[in-house]
Amino acid sequence: MKMSVIGCGYLGAVHAAAMASLGHEVVGVDVDPAKIEALAAGQAPFFEPGLPELLTENHDSGKLRFTTDIAEVAECDVHFVAVGTPQRRGGHSADLTYVNAAVESLLPHLKPGALVVGKSTVPVGTAERLAERIEPTGAELAWNPEFLREGFAVKDTIEPDRIVYGVRSDRARQILDDVYRTAVDAGTPVVVTDYATAELVKTAANAFLATKISFINAMAEIAEVTGADVTKLADAIGHDARIGRKFLNAGVGFGGGCLPKDIRAFRARAEELGRGESLAFLKEIDEINLRRRQRVVDLATELLGGSVYEKRIAVLGLAFKPNSDDIRDSPALDVAVMLNGLGAEVLAFDPEAVENARRAHPQLVYAESAEAALKDAQAVVLVTEWSEFRELDPAATAGLVAQRLVIDGRNVLDPAAWQGAGWTYAGLGRP
Ligand code: UDX
Repeated sequence: MKMSVIGCGYLGAVHAAAMASLGHEVVGVDVDPAKIEALAAGQAPFFEPGLPELLTENHDSGKLRFTTDIAEVAECDVHFVAVGTPQRRGGHSADLTYVNAAVESLLPHLKPGALVVGKSTVPVGTAERLAERIEPTGAELAWNPEFLREGFAVKDTIEPDRIVYGVRSDRARQILDDVYRTAVDAGTPVVVTDYATAELVKTAANAFLATKISFINAMAEIAEVTGADVTKLADAIGHDARIGRKFLNAGVGFGGGCLPKDIRAFRARAEELGRGESLAFLKEIDEINLRRRQRVVDLATELLGGSVYEKRIAVLGLAFKPNSDDIRDSPALDVAVMLNGLGAEVLAFDPEAVENARRAHPQLVYAESAEAALKDAQAVVLVTEWSEFRELDPAATAGLVAQRLVIDGRNVLDPAAWQGAGWTYAGLGRP
């Protein structure tokens, strides 16, 4: 099939490359010439494992091209809208500027019978409104939310655990079946529904995941005043198949370009719909999450004798999670900035996110390596669980620092091993 992908960010670039690798002929469109230039040369404009290989492979086969010119999509049968829906400045609701602009720019180039497929995360009701713009052209709209995780985006796109179509016709459903033929034939569950449900599936899934993380972080807060161990608690409740162990890792909390802004936008939308009370709990979920960042700073302050002022602190991690260079709403970066704001001499390192962090926070000092960050540190704060940090050898690391104090903001180090090497170890929600 011939298809376009409008918006080549974390979602769109991966989607375009994945669709090409499934055999479709794909044109990716973005308004950012630098991004398009990189992608057209077969280079990923951000860190995502597996994406560079996919781009090169499809670039060479001629199945994938990129352009800034929207007119080049005119031949396509299917158009994916994969632009961002960031948090509105000064508010909590989603900013739909890019979605609206993408659809408006498509309108003059839609051939009759074309299918526009919304992938962006939007407030419920958006698809209904966009369909009114699209249908007069003889094209149709479907809503097909995306559940990919950064760091696993290629796999999640090619082998999704479910596919959701919000459609108004059988024809739209059949076109989407053809788009996802490989996954459909492999038996991937497909949920066919209306626009509103399809839009809600995405926000509900993210709200649930955020709730699960904040739930366990709330348990960590209780563990901290009772001497209990939240990691053992998570293991024990996680054995209950109804609960499950995944997304029960207590720590510095969730960040990224999705969960934080999606729960805020979802709540804002519920209020617009006159059902604010239904999602009022998401405010609590957000607050628990943000308190965990402060907790790391408070622990550092307490363990450094009441102040971090002029204390040399190694911050390990800046990305919102490992295997990503994404610093959007990153708890790790927030902790580094908070410590720096209190006068600590922060030396921060991340295997992939330093460049993005430097652009956003030039006031921080960045190290070239974990070892360089650790050198002469009076405290080590681990806030993104990259495997190179998880695998740090406590004995070898002890020789680098000025003081053996480690704050494990992700509960990924073995307390006994670190204590055995003479370290003071502090986790979150651990005795
Ligand atoms: C999320 C959803 O998982 C995905 O389905 C959706 O499409 C987009 O949003 P992503 O933002 O890539 O994906 O990250 P995810 O792996 O879900 O992690 C989100 C945040 O939660 C990270 O900051 C992570 O560190 C944190 N987290 C995750 C925890 O703090 N504890 C956990 O147990 C799991």
